[in-house]
Amino acid sequence: MEKSDLRLAPIGVFDSGVGGLTVAREMMRQMPNERIIYFGDTARVPYGSKSRETVTKYSEQIVRFLLEQKVKAIAVACNTASAYALGKLEEETPVPMIGVIKPGARAAVQATRNGKIGVIGTEGTISSGIYPEYIRQLNPQAQVLGRACPLFVPLVEEGLLEDPVTDEIARRYLTELMDEGIDTLILGCTHYPLIRSTIGRVVGDGVTLVNPAYETARELKVMLGEKGLLSEEKPELGGESQYRFYVSDMADKFRRFANGIIKYGILSAKTVHIERY
Ligand code: DGL
Repeated sequence: MEKSDLRLAPIGVFDSGVGGLTVAREMMRQMPNERIIYFGDTARVPYGSKSRETVTKYSEQIVRFLLEQKVKAIAVACNTASAYALGKLEEETPVPMIGVIKPGARAAVQATRNGKIGVIGTEGTISSGIYPEYIRQLNPQAQVLGRACPLFVPLVEEGLLEDPVTDEIARRYLTELMDEGIDTLILGCTHYPLIRSTIGRVVGDGVTLVNPAYETARELKVMLGEKGLLSEEKPELGGESQYRFYVSDMADKFRRFANGIIKYGILSAKTVHIERY
């Protein structure tokens, strides 16, 4: 494909389910000329409690599907998939890729004043140790405290974004990190930006919250610009939607949830038999 055509090709984004829409939303805000193809693995969610091997296999299948859609770049929106699979995916994939972990780690290192950084995420992301690894590469003196918060994902998916139950769970999860004196907290899971205000209330104004979804969209824009792949004008769509959504199951449920997060109108979500890839 000519480079000029390639600029108009879509960006692929994938996640274990609905959570990655927080990343897609940032991409839509920051790169309004881009076409986006989103894949949510709603049949096999959650990834956060699965093994590295399984998450890697699922991610490879999704990447094969996205490549078939002729994407020019792929964003791994899921923290767990970024933690477990990004290295292998990058080796195997012919288009540029970005995950959410490095952008989040970089922003946290820039934000901290006392060098004490908290990271919250799924069990997989926290036990992978990947956030501390990247952070220490950037600042060997940094102290990184991780905490898995497995109940946050179902609370968000139940719509309990502003609810006393979520407040209480957040207090239980975060008190320990606060007692350690962190001044920066990475929201290391796709769903957490949706309960940012609850988390912010619990940790207080003294703690800077880092949203990897925002940072990833920002870095992806820079990366595409450097590679000459950024679309400079609104794509001509000929009746096609600028944003296309695919899932592996429960397309209607996905659409309902997604329409609450993305205000750009999700017309439909199609089901893909991802096991075939
Ligand atoms: N998308 C996942 C992540 O960011 C959270 C949901 C899951 O466990 O699959 O790690």
